[in-house]
Amino acid sequence: MKKITIAIDGYSSTGKSTLAKQLAKYLGYVYVDTGAMYRAVTLFSMQNGYISSEYFDKETLINSIPNIKLHFEFNPQLGYAEMHLNDVNVEKEIRTIEVSNFVSIVAEVSQVRAKLVEQQKEMGKNKAIVMDGRDIATVVFPDAELKIFMTASPETRAQRRFDELQAKGDDVAYEAVLKNVQERDYIDTHRDDSPLVMDDDAIEIDNSYLTREEQFNAVLELVNDIINKTN
Ligand code: DC
Repeated sequence: MKKITIAIDGYSSTGKSTLAKQLAKYLGYVYVDTGAMYRAVTLFSMQNGYISSEYFDKETLINSIPNIKLHFEFNPQLGYAEMHLNDVNVEKEIRTIEVSNFVSIVAEVSQVRAKLVEQQKEMGKNKAIVMDGRDIATVVFPDAELKIFMTASPETRAQRRFDELQAKGDDVAYEAVLKNVQERDYIDTHRDDSPLVMDDDAIEIDNSYLTREEQFNAVLELVNDIINKTN
């Protein structure tokens, strides 16, 4: 069967990774969470003292880029690949609210973006990939056969992330999560380099009122249409 590239972009906490994982599993494709890569670079910056609530030492981070080694390792128990930073599994550490608070600032650095985009293009060179992020359709895979742009209201998304953090035992206020979602929306859509925008040929899915199954089935129909057409 013809292998395609699926690009999934959208605002934070719109369920991009849930949909991407479902699709990759069903199609036997590789799933790549590019947000995890930006989060890992953020964690690296925090660990080395380049970023805190008071300052951001952008120049030192840029000079340290060659020392940042990122790779994904498939975990068969989880059914998806986990993020490794310099050979250490950081899958849990990159999901904290602290990393979420700093990640958009790190993702604004063009030199960081250039390095990660290069790695992402390389991962997708044989197609059969589902990649999610903010610039996948516009920058990483402009020729992707299927481009999905996901949206949902900020309140719906904050509630989802709040529930996730609570389930992990992270004691955080809903208002703090909503504020983080709104701030990240603003930075993601207003940065100079590769801002989040819906690509001209992307298909928008607002999942505020869709179940996971409804969303998955709708997208699967699009995938099947494309595979059947290009066969
Ligand atoms: O998808 P996420 O919430 O884990 O992404 C974390 C941050 O990384 C998000 O605020 C924006 C940034 N990001 C990006 O700029 N480009 C991508 N392709 C993926 C994520």
